[in-house]
Amino acid sequence: MKNIVIIISGRGSNLQALLNENLGCSIRAVISSRADAAGLSFAKEKGIPYSVVSHRDHPDRASFDAALAIEIDRYHPDFVVLAGFMRILTEAFVMRYAGRLINIHPSLLPAYPGMHTHAKALEDGVKIHGCTVHFVTPDLDHGPIIIQAAVPVFEEDTEQTLGERVLREEHRIYPQAVRWLCSGRVRLGENGKVINDRSSRMDASLISPSLEET
Ligand code: GAR
Repeated sequence: MKNIVIIISGRGSNLQALLNENLGCSIRAVISSRADAAGLSFAKEKGIPYSVVSHRDHPDRASFDAALAIEIDRYHPDFVVLAGFMRILTEAFVMRYAGRLINIHPSLLPAYPGMHTHAKALEDGVKIHGCTVHFVTPDLDHGPIIIQAAVPVFEEDTEQTLGERVLREEHRIYPQAVRWLCSGRVRLGENGKVINDRSSRMDASLISPSLEET
């Protein structure tokens, strides 16, 4: 069975979604970049080892990433799962875990990398928004995509209502992506593209706003 370590920075709802599913792997530890991350309580509840590597204790990104890597490597994980981890990682860190590091992002990448994705989607007036699970590469929020979920954007949406709709889908696709990874069904090919051995096809489209019946 594969081992994973999950890294968080805050609320931890994606961590909770992962902990509540059968992922077909062993969650060896949860590591937070903040001591006050609410999500640590979910690890506590499940009796999973957890620790804090605080960015505040390190003068720069390189030394924080080096400390984080030392903590991660204590658990010898096959995969490192970023679940609401809010720090930008150095190239050295990302390359150390090449093909073994995944992230969830609250937009349909490559649209809206970075922060405030729901506000940007509302500002642009897009009618479809969503979330993405991807392998992490040094190019921030541009790594090879494993799975995405799309949701409609409604006229009356606020950042909060849209964010909640997206988050519900995050909680569905992240466990699936981790399960695929741990079963070996999904991997990063040498050409930098995602290989998914048995991806099923869905031919239903999401049209938003819906077409009218004629
Ligand atoms: C989630 O929406 C996640 O996609 C996002 O932060 C939130 C964390 O929530 N991640 C990023 O923006 C990473 N760039 P959670 O702590 O409740 O899982």
